[in-house]
Amino acid sequence: MKELKERIVKEGLVIPPNILKVGSFLNLQVDPVLMEQIGEDFANHFAGKGVTKVVTIESSGIAPALMAAKAMRVPLVILKKKPSKILNSNLYQTEVTSFTTQTSYELTLSAEYINENDHVLIIDDFLADGEAATGAIRLMRMAHATVAGIGILIEKSFQPGHDKLVAQGFDVYSQARIASMDKKNGVHFVEE
Ligand code: G4P
Repeated sequence: MKELKERIVKEGLVIPPNILKVGSFLNLQVDPVLMEQIGEDFANHFAGKGVTKVVTIESSGIAPALMAAKAMRVPLVILKKKPSKILNSNLYQTEVTSFTTQTSYELTLSAEYINENDHVLIIDDFLADGEAATGAIRLMRMAHATVAGIGILIEKSFQPGHDKLVAQGFDVYSQARIASMDKKNGVHFVEE
């Protein structure tokens, strides 16, 4: 997606060895106009897939996922990263270990919002090793929902997440696919 790639080139900061900081428009400050364009791009890409709900992982996935949900006229469901503090038996939970941050968390879905009739579009800001997306897929299975697709803003294609998900048969669409990046030469995108 042209607008997202332009912003990455203009404002992205590469932190060696492989972290891209995009705090100025996505993670710390959010550009709502760009998020709207991102949402419309996802809606166009996944049109005709029968999506009934958009699902994202808190926190940085929420802004683009909300815009996609708005464009598709479906609700947004948020997966939380902390176990519920309130006693609630109506939850699905699965442990996710982040390679980037070397931390684990309990990804949690409130069962009442996803069921066997749902065709879900999972949206997240970054795809690196694919652990977060895989956790979200596990929760959708627990809820007996169908995963209609996976939408990613920034894919680090030099990490295994994309290939792992495609190998399992998922329709993965990443708006910006980074082939390589370093401090000196900046970001290079996968040729498409
Ligand atoms: P994975 O799901 O593909 O395996 O990725 P991983 O666990 O390694 O990512 C953990 C966190 O780090 C996620 O955010 C992810 O968005 C973020 N992340 C991964 N690579 C980059 C990067 O190059 N740049 C930036 N800015 N973030 C990256 P999170 O901890 O869940 O944070 P948030 O969603 O609450 O902001």
